[in-house]
Parts: sequence; structure tokens; C-alpha cells
Amino acid sequence: MRLICAKDYADVSRKAANIIAAQIQLKPDCVLGLATGSSPVGTYKELIAMYESGDLDFSKVRTVNLDEYVGLTKDHDQSYAYFMRTNLFDHVNIDQANCNIPNGMNPDAEGECARYDAVIDGFGGADLQLLGLGPNGHIGFNEPADAFVKNTNKVELTKATIDANARFFATRDDVPKYAYTMGIGGIMKAKRVLLVANGKGKAQAVKDCFFGPIKPQAPGSILQLHPDFTLVADEEALSLVKDLL
Ligand code: F6R
Repeated sequence: MRLICAKDYADVSRKAANIIAAQIQLKPDCVLGLATGSSPVGTYKELIAMYESGDLDFSKVRTVNLDEYVGLTKDHDQSYAYFMRTNLFDHVNIDQANCNIPNGMNPDAEGECARYDAVIDGFGGADLQLLGLGPNGHIGFNEPADAFVKNTNKVELTKATIDANARFFATRDDVPKYAYTMGIGGIMKAKRVLLVANGKGKAQAVKDCFFGPIKPQAPGSILQLHPDFTLVADEEALSLVKDLL
């Protein structure tokens, strides 16, 4: 594991964007594994700025996202497809035909998961997978469990996740109960993995996942076994491991 200590969220975002930009410059048709959520928003803003200043060309880049809610159309403003368009894709010269996200509207879970694994395998895994970290240590929607799940799978969202998401929907019943997520095997297939973590809310998960034993109860801990894993974390996210650095 390579640890890059950042000062704060803005610093995390700049450092992560520089790594992704270098990847695109070295391999213009690279496959980027992408995440949603609040953590990568600043990174995406930095990448957009680099594109606007003429330093980055996304025209040949291909992407594969981690996850999507089951039952939301790609135009629903809480879908991850919509998130990716509004936070990155619509602002750069990427060909959206080359952007892959699980299809949350496919009712055939087995078929959709198999289709998505075939997409990942067709790429031979992402060249660089960007990740956030759940406060409970999840990566993608791979929640703490008794075993690591290898393939793309349909997960039932935890009550805590549904409660946390309720504020974005008209009623609690409108919150999706399931999601499709890339499995741990799909994430580990990436040639390089880059995880961004910021804020006190991530401190325990950072400690459990990257400074403790490797176990499915702390899903992100599997990344300790990845041959090219970089963690970019700010002072608050590293606040519980200061003595270990
Ligand atoms: C997002 C994803 C999740 C988030 C994680 C952290 O595609 O798969 O694992 O990365 O829940 O979310 P934020 O960044 O909102 O704290």
C-alpha cells in the first residue's frame, strides 16, 4: 500500500486528480473504474478543470462504474448514471458510448450481473479504479459480511443506507432497496487502485481497513493485498492512525 497524506479535502482531490490525469496521459484509451458519492466530486472537478485548460483529453477514455441502484432509470436524479453525467461526463469530451454503468432497470439480476462482469473481463479489468470508502468500510456496495463476494452482485441496502438516502427522495418508500455492485473480484482485477478518503467520519474505517487485519467484515481491507494500491487520505481521515505513520 502506498499512502499519500493530504491536508484536507481540496488537497485529496488535487492529488487524486493528478494521478488520474497521469494515467490518461500515459494511456489515452485507458479504462477508468469510477465511483460516485461525495468523496470523488472534488477529484472530478479538478479533472474537468484540467480538461478545460487543454491539459487532458478524454476522447478515447473508457469507463466502468462501480454500482447503480436497482429500479432507477438513468435519468432519475438520484441514479448513479445521472450523477456521473452531471459531475463529470457532460463536462469533458468523453464518448458516453464508452461509459459503462450497471443497468438498474434490468429486472434480470443474474443476467445483468453476468453482463457487467463480461464488460469488466472484456477490458481485462480497469487500468485504474477510483474508490471511496464507506464509514463501515464498504467499497462499491460490498458491505461488511462473512465472506468477500467476488462477482458483480445484487445487494440489499442496509437500513442505515436507506435512512441516509431518504433525504434525497419524496418518501422513504421511494428509496431503492437494492443495488447492483461490482464485486470484490472485479475491483481487485484493476491494475491500479486509488482510494480517496477525507473527514473524521472515515477515520475508523481507514484504521480498520488499512491498518488492521484483512477480513470481509472490513471489505476495504482486501486492498492491502492489491499489488498497486494507493490511499490518498486527509489529516482527519488519518487521525486514528497518527501513531502508526
Ligand atoms: C460509490 C460507492 C460507495 C462510496 C462510499 C463512500 O459509487 O460505491 O462505496 O464510495 O459509500 O461514499 P461517500 O464518498 O459519499 O462518503
